[in-house]
Amino acid sequence: MSLFARKPLEKILSESSVDAHGHSLKRTLTATQLVALGIGAIIGAGIFSLTGVAAAQHAGPAVVYSFILAAVACAFAGFCYSEFATMIPVAGSAYTYAYATMGELLAWIIGWALVLEYAIGAATVSVSWSGYMVSIVESFGIHLPQNLIHSPWDPVPGMINLPSVIIIMIISTILIIGIQESARFNALIVAVKLAVVVLFIGLGYFFINYDNYKPFLPENTTGRFGDFGWTGVLAAAGQIFFAYIGFDAVSTAAQEARNPKRDMPIGIVGSLVICTVLYILYAGVLTGVVNYKDLNVSAPLAVAVDRMKSVPWLGFLMKLGSLAGLTSVMLVMLLGQSRVFYSMSRDGLLPSMFSELHAKFATPWKSNLLLMVFVAVLGAFTPIQQLGNLTSMGTLWAFTLVCAGVIIMRRTHPETPRPFRTPLVPLVPVLGMLFCLLLMFSLDRITKYAFFAWMIAGLAVYFSYSRSRSHLQRSLVEEAAGTK
Ligand code: ALA
Repeated sequence: MSLFARKPLEKILSESSVDAHGHSLKRTLTATQLVALGIGAIIGAGIFSLTGVAAAQHAGPAVVYSFILAAVACAFAGFCYSEFATMIPVAGSAYTYAYATMGELLAWIIGWALVLEYAIGAATVSVSWSGYMVSIVESFGIHLPQNLIHSPWDPVPGMINLPSVIIIMIISTILIIGIQESARFNALIVAVKLAVVVLFIGLGYFFINYDNYKPFLPENTTGRFGDFGWTGVLAAAGQIFFAYIGFDAVSTAAQEARNPKRDMPIGIVGSLVICTVLYILYAGVLTGVVNYKDLNVSAPLAVAVDRMKSVPWLGFLMKLGSLAGLTSVMLVMLLGQSRVFYSMSRDGLLPSMFSELHAKFATPWKSNLLLMVFVAVLGAFTPIQQLGNLTSMGTLWAFTLVCAGVIIMRRTHPETPRPFRTPLVPLVPVLGMLFCLLLMFSLDRITKYAFFAWMIAGLAVYFSYSRSRSHLQRSLVEEAAGTK
């Protein structure tokens, strides 16, 4: 049995077009809808929550530079995702690309890392959601007990983050019942989210106190990595990289795109470009309105609008818009996670339970329930920063392997049509890998340990369970026996 057995491209493409009952996904999504899907998945806790902490703890107003740095890494990865999404337009995204290019072990590693992106990502967003919900409730004069709205390791410690648990339970239930996320519903949320961000930038501009920009790049006085200065910019870039996560989720909709060859790159790169511009402006305004030292909170936008007192209606509107925006991110992430598990389970690498569908709702409900428990426990007891960093770590690792996959695929399958070609291969994928590795390196030590522990656990599962049950490995063994 080979650890590097590759799933043939033809097999992936033929399996994906119809399911066991002869049904296939409908190709309905247009380029605009794909861009909207990307923005729906991208704008969330990264800017509504983590930007504040990144500025307060690492970069100050220079968090603007961190946004530029993270955007460059994403742009390189975005090109590579676009090449794969047009060449292998199936759900399963990075996991499937790796199965075709680098073999089963690396596919498993990516699938396992994607749990960090999607499941832990959803937990991060749920903590952010909780911060905004509490702030809204407080605007009605209701003060919830601190013990019930903070994890034990928050800057203000509590016992459990209950709002975070509740929202995860609600969203998981929605996913089990199987409410179809219609393009129109998503477009509405995206419009609200964009309006919130644009309005904040436009109005916040008039409340900028230019003294807050002095110094723009606070000096590193401790000599420690990440304590402001340029290493702080780098550390903050690793942290706010989280804000860009989601453009890759567009690639999971490749099977539902009307014209994936043309529209996938538009969806992926387009949503990335729009968000990059907005993020840079947003970070500039946020740190101009509120001094970075006051931003060590999970709802920085709420703090900023509270300072803009002359527009009293703004705060409430923005907090509400942020809540809606965060909800759609969680929905997409938990949906994405169950899809990746579904693909891994169908390949035999995870128990069949993960691809069993509910008799009535036709959703992978057992998988959703398990995920709900896992994600809710994390959201309840872990601080947002730690969760966010771990999500970024897992995603950066997946991006690194996708970039490597482009180079490998050009060698192994030079003749396969590529409607979108990453420019300047191997330079662009290599730069993508280097930038992603740099950002991984910039994350804190606890995150690195947690990441390694998670990956080692993944390898243990692969070697003790998945390898012997893999459908691909079995078919290879049967083929070999047949030819003897
Ligand atoms: N980019 C998404 C967010 O910031 C994951 O919430």
